[in-house]
Amino acid sequence: MALFDTYIIIVAAGSGSRFGSDVPKQFCLLDGKPVVMHAIERLQAAVPGATPIIVVSPSEEKRWADLCERFGFTSPAVVHGGATRWESVKNGLAAIPADARANSIVLIHDGARPLVDTPTVKRVCAAAINTDGAIPAIPVSDSLRRLDSDGVGSSPVDRGEFRAVQTPQGFILWRLREAYSQPYQESFTDDASVMAEAGYENVFLVEGNPDNIKITNPRDIAIAEAILSSGR
Ligand code: C5P
Repeated sequence: MALFDTYIIIVAAGSGSRFGSDVPKQFCLLDGKPVVMHAIERLQAAVPGATPIIVVSPSEEKRWADLCERFGFTSPAVVHGGATRWESVKNGLAAIPADARANSIVLIHDGARPLVDTPTVKRVCAAAINTDGAIPAIPVSDSLRRLDSDGVGSSPVDRGEFRAVQTPQGFILWRLREAYSQPYQESFTDDASVMAEAGYENVFLVEGNPDNIKITNPRDIAIAEAILSSGR
């Protein structure tokens, strides 16, 4: 038996308003297959034996069931999504059995990141064990500026002080459950921000992968297809 049980919560309940399509971006086809199926397959390949859970908006559950049938894909357990990513993660967390080992690793992954890679997942799992959590991050390549309070003026900042954060983010189950028992705050854009608010500030940054993009705009599909066709 593995030393650490692993659960993977794939949050796929966003409406994808920036994507500008009736079909939420996580269900759009990428190289002929829905974006989120790529993510699930890659996560399962990275951590064989992990228990996946997919969080889907109730209004999209039929679409997901139809896609699974069309692609002969066995869906992980499906959990209802919420109005915010935080609520979707909380619902996914509630689906982990109450008697799961408290030191299980929980990976939380954006369903809109189809190109997640095994080395990144392994780095996250390894670093999640002895810390308050582990998140993959990459340097920022663009120059950055901070907007003034008027939203017009701006001043340069040192991009070397910043990292762009990706998923999967990994945490030990008991800490994550405690952090997600707090009331919601608008600043909770990812799991690390929820952990920090609960006092778990020793979240470790591991090397991410620039290919692990989050599909946000339609052009990201073309970029992801180019990455896939180059064999990555
Ligand atoms: O909106 P954004 O791209 O930041 O969402 C990140 C991930 O969180 C996406 O995979 C999206 O489907 C998921 N999400 C969710 N429930 C929400 C909002 C976002 O599962 N209410």
